[in-house]
Amino acid sequence: MSAVNLGLPRLRVEPATSEPRPDNPALIDTFGRVATDLRVSLTDRCNLRCTYCMPADGLPWLPGKDVLTDEELLRLLRIAVERLGITDIRLTGGEPMLRPGLEDLIGQIAALRPRPRLSMTTNGIGLAKRAARIAAAGLDRINVSLDTVDRETFRTISRRDRLSHVLDGLAAARAAGLDPVKINAVLLRGVNEHEAASLLRFSLDHGYHLRFIEQMPLDAQHGWNRRDMVTASEILDLLRAEFDLTPSPGERGGAPAERWLVDGGPGDVGVIASVTRPFCAACERTRLTADGAVRSCLFSNAETDLRGLLRAGHDDEAVADAWRMTMWGKLAGHEINEAGFAQPLRPMSAIGG
Ligand code: 5AD
Ligand code: SF4
Repeated sequence: MSAVNLGLPRLRVEPATSEPRPDNPALIDTFGRVATDLRVSLTDRCNLRCTYCMPADGLPWLPGKDVLTDEELLRLLRIAVERLGITDIRLTGGEPMLRPGLEDLIGQIAALRPRPRLSMTTNGIGLAKRAARIAAAGLDRINVSLDTVDRETFRTISRRDRLSHVLDGLAAARAAGLDPVKINAVLLRGVNEHEAASLLRFSLDHGYHLRFIEQMPLDAQHGWNRRDMVTASEILDLLRAEFDLTPSPGERGGAPAERWLVDGGPGDVGVIASVTRPFCAACERTRLTADGAVRSCLFSNAETDLRGLLRAGHDDEAVADAWRMTMWGKLAGHEINEAGFAQPLRPMSAIGG
């Protein structure tokens, strides 16, 4: 039956397939993709209030009893690594450094075998003091979110006067040997778009790897609109006014960023065109929320509650199977560019970036 599209938001129906799943331990889907990269949100809370992410007053946070305990979380990560072929784990939030006992958790994740590559996406607040311990615990790489190097603009975007904390955090991450240190930046029209080139200059001067991310419809307030989004091609134009960009050689693989050498290299810059040039066909990701739901995509509207299975006493293989079935139902892409697209029910801060 074909549906008449009335242009109204509709929820994506998942799983989209009745195809039988072959007997395969990995996180395969019906489009031939294999998820090996797990993004895990350690908390939905944050100590910034970026305007493109959440309202000034924050959000109703998950109640503590709903958040996975360390023991539950480690069990799921062990299942992912031992049974499901996960090779890369990225810790996200909200702000992952707000998770109590983060350093211990990192140590325990790094002790899993085969050892996953371990990275974290953070806003950098508090990193100055903790980077050395976090690196010593086993974190390999880090992404720090930084949309501006101007104090006033930082305050406008994040609603907090903390630019210097983030800059100190970046320096500490590099000094601690985290490599590479990446910066994620979102450009907002009329707010920080004019700072694209200065962010790149700053990143090159300090040896950080800058990546611009197109703003996606994932804010809690549902305020995203296409006209305000600064597109990848606009970002490249803004940078080309000051720098010479040439496509970076080397495999992109499942990596979302298209990379450009700056002024002949070795410095480079990435652009993640999630909206205007979706890379869903090469997606290698699976996601776990702080309350133990598995999602096959940032934009999924179906999730599988693994916490419920854990708390009901199911064994590892049953949990692994539920995870496999969720990923088997992964849709081809995010559909942002299709009529009637509806934002996912959870905002970015409750999924993990
Ligand atoms: N679109 C794109 N990126 C976003 N981030 C948060 N919300 C959005 C959005 N709507 C970024 C943050 C951070 C990472 C977790 O995701 O800036 O770098
Ligand atoms: Fe916090 Fe990141 Fe959202 Fe900003 S974008 S409020 S740092 S979770």
